[in-house]
Amino acid sequence: MTPQIRIARDAGVCYGVERALKLAQGAAATGQKASTLGPLIHNPQVVAELAARGVAVTDDPVKLAPGETLIIRTHGVEAALIEAAQARGLQVIDATCPYVRKVQQAARKLAADGYEVIIIGEPDHPEVIAVRSHAGSDARVISSADDLPADFSARKVGVVVQTTQTLETLQTVIRALLPCCQELRVYNTICDATSKRQEATRELAHDSEVMVVVGGHNSGNTTRLAQISREAGAHTYHIERPDELDAAWFDGVGRIGVTAGASTPAEHLAAVVARIEELVA
Ligand code: F3S
Repeated sequence: MTPQIRIARDAGVCYGVERALKLAQGAAATGQKASTLGPLIHNPQVVAELAARGVAVTDDPVKLAPGETLIIRTHGVEAALIEAAQARGLQVIDATCPYVRKVQQAARKLAADGYEVIIIGEPDHPEVIAVRSHAGSDARVISSADDLPADFSARKVGVVVQTTQTLETLQTVIRALLPCCQELRVYNTICDATSKRQEATRELAHDSEVMVVVGGHNSGNTTRLAQISREAGAHTYHIERPDELDAAWFDGVGRIGVTAGASTPAEHLAAVVARIEELVA
């Protein structure tokens, strides 16, 4: 019997990535030399497609000549970096996702209002590094409640969250912080796109024997979808391209689910679904 293949109701490219891709494609269309600071998104195929259209990747704006265009990716960068690039005569296209900008603004406001700022997120992630630059040098980055020192205490604590974190992590940290401070101010800056994709993945994985999660292996949000899917009990495969699929994964399987991270364009997801259909036909 041919297995049933279902796609998660929320899957694939999000608002911020779509916006960034349009800005980068617009820059390519001008014919000016343009470079993104680091890969525009965590998706090697998309980065290669942009390179073919004339948008390169640089690791340092200093390598660009005045007049060239520097594109800031969705994760954002430290405020000082944009100012320095503009001072050197670079054209800056800021594709920081508006939701990431909200995290930066919230962190800046908390620091200005005298709160001890806690950023929940991955310390080495570019989004978190940029947010920290807005929160002041005293800001603390923790990835879970376990990272809080045992003797932590402060009068006013302010919390912001990396957009791709889970609500569970935020709730656990809030529970741990409540006894340690007199005032706790929390900005729930988790992106809706992320939680919707996570919830849709969880639901579909509960009701699937095999799940295929599509997106960059270097994409944090895609990797998290794969984790959620595994925790929900489905055999889960995280792939970037249709040619990574293996027919043996679907032997004797009746229900296959497919989802994709927020940096996976719709056509990449469609190509994977088409290839699964061929393999199980
Ligand atoms: Fe922005 Fe959310 Fe996407 S923060 S880049 S819309 S996952």
